[in-house]
Amino acid sequence: MPIRVLDNHLIDQIAAGEVIERPASIVKELVENSLDAGAQCIEVEIEAGGVRLTRVRDDGGGIPAAELALALSRHATSKISTADDLAAITTLGFRGEALPSIASVSRFEIVSRAMDAERAARVTVDAGVVGEPEPAAHPPGTTIEVRDLFYNLPARRKFLRSEVTEQGHIVRLLERLALSRDDVTFRLRTASRTLLDAPKLGSGALPDRIARIVGQEFVERSLEVDHSAGPVRVHGWIGMPSAARATSDLQYWFVNGRAVRDRLLMNAVRLGFRDVLYSGRQPSYVLYLDIDPALVDVNAHPQKLEVRFRDSRQIHDFVFRAVERRLAGTKPAPGAMPPAFGGVGERATPLPASLDLRVAEAAAPHATWALSEALAAVEYDVPPVAAGAEPLGQALAQIHGIYILAQNEQGLVLVDMHAAHERVLYEKMKAQSGTAATQLLLAPITVTLKVDELDTLLAQRDQWQAAGFDLERLSPDTLVVRAVPALLPREDIGTLVRDVVQGVADDEAAHHLDVATDRLLGTIACRSAIHAHRRLSLAEMNALLRQMEQTPRADQCNHGRPTWTQVTMTELDRMFLRGR
Ligand SMILES: Nc1ncnc2c1ncn2[C@@H]1O[C@H](COP(=O)(O)OP(=O)(O)OP(=O)(O)O)[C@@H](O)[C@H]1O
Ligand SMILES: [Mg+2]
Repeated sequence: MPIRVLDNHLIDQIAAGEVIERPASIVKELVENSLDAGAQCIEVEIEAGGVRLTRVRDDGGGIPAAELALALSRHATSKISTADDLAAITTLGFRGEALPSIASVSRFEIVSRAMDAERAARVTVDAGVVGEPEPAAHPPGTTIEVRDLFYNLPARRKFLRSEVTEQGHIVRLLERLALSRDDVTFRLRTASRTLLDAPKLGSGALPDRIARIVGQEFVERSLEVDHSAGPVRVHGWIGMPSAARATSDLQYWFVNGRAVRDRLLMNAVRLGFRDVLYSGRQPSYVLYLDIDPALVDVNAHPQKLEVRFRDSRQIHDFVFRAVERRLAGTKPAPGAMPPAFGGVGERATPLPASLDLRVAEAAAPHATWALSEALAAVEYDVPPVAAGAEPLGQALAQIHGIYILAQNEQGLVLVDMHAAHERVLYEKMKAQSGTAATQLLLAPITVTLKVDELDTLLAQRDQWQAAGFDLERLSPDTLVVRAVPALLPREDIGTLVRDVVQGVADDEAAHHLDVATDRLLGTIACRSAIHAHRRLSLAEMNALLRQMEQTPRADQCNHGRPTWTQVTMTELDRMFLRGR
């Protein structure tokens, strides 16, 4: 075939291939146009999962009759005009591609009335041919009707899923858009049902919008984040670690009001959560990044779902620190409700059985040592809590060698001693990382490992060294340990090293150096923390409670399990039907 220039209709259909994947893409483009037009209320109506009909009606600025046909031609936009505009985009659209693309793969009609116009005008598009504008009746604003999507492209029509699936995509998309702008009303319905109704709310009502879209439970079990630095601000809500989910379905990012699924941002949050989540659990969040538009390029993805930051490293760090710092605040404070109660009297979801303490115990059956000795080795630079301000109260007893029972002002406190001690040790080791006090062993210990295990271990030798170990390979499968961190028990180093190596080997996420170091420290902490059935004296229990109060993130162990919980006097009274 000779080379030739494609005709315009075909060019539009090819462009539509990139932007219009399914009915939800049409809803996205049309609703974004309505938002750009300053609409206060946007109503979407669909039939047959949006394939038979998608109608979007808004009360925005509208399009003058004279420009209506132009709006439907390729590369026609009112949003940018120079390269400088392109470098600092403040609208959701900017390419002038959406309407012609949609019109080329459907039966299309637009009716619009500009703010100051007397009358509305209507234009229809048939098989790529744009008709003449004709007068019509419509209040100020725009209505666009898209019928029979892909009627002229049977091959693409085959890729569409069932009506229910396509409808689900539309609902989730509109939920995302509704979270991006709580000052706009969004409605979605079919002929018979309302699928989404999010009326606009006054200022400061973002939590109400989030509750409506994501659920009240998320709002109640989340922490507010608000952190600014120069031209960047991140704000929103992050779910408490105990509210983490098995899937990533509750993760929302908005950059300058644009809903994105950006890897860099998602990764930064995951990193911020890294040592409060049990592996495999997903954080939940609704976060907004506001940034000088000149510092972010939104022209980086066909569906504008990803963005590029000029200083990606800095943005990543900024978000990561904001999340990490907010989570570090989760330690016992006077009068604060523990995580397991979520502040509303409901308990955290039950933990999987495999997390049972006994599992951890079986993994390191010999790690018995005096807690008091280890605690004595821990020096804190944090000033001691003022007398009378001991949120976790005074220890009373130990139950079944697993839980510590204590009494504070509000009532009864229950502490999972292994989980709590693990967190205390871990934070201490992290704080000391690189400068950890080491303890030379009088007699070096040799540990036999599989050759590849030893390879893995030595690949992380720097991290082991930073943690306070002195290790060397003696032969392909023997390791000699000359020194260990002063914080650790001196008994049974061999089992500890072996457990840690196996724990770390399972973890493929540990390629980031920081993550690898923390993973190692976390595993060491878990394997060396006091295990079940260790008898503690009251003094040891109280020492642990005091340490928890001074340890960042002490509300969860480093697998994200809660470390303590409170049963208030009111709750106890209720249990015993005692009126006061
Ligand atoms: N609902 C609307 N209300 C007012 N004007 C609209 C509306 N929808 C589209 N327009 C006008 O039509 C133009 C073309 O819309 P289109 O979506 O094709 O391109 P765009 O939004 O400029 O860029 P993009 O292709 O990135 O979406 C817009 O620039 C805008 O001026
Ligand atoms: Mg657009």
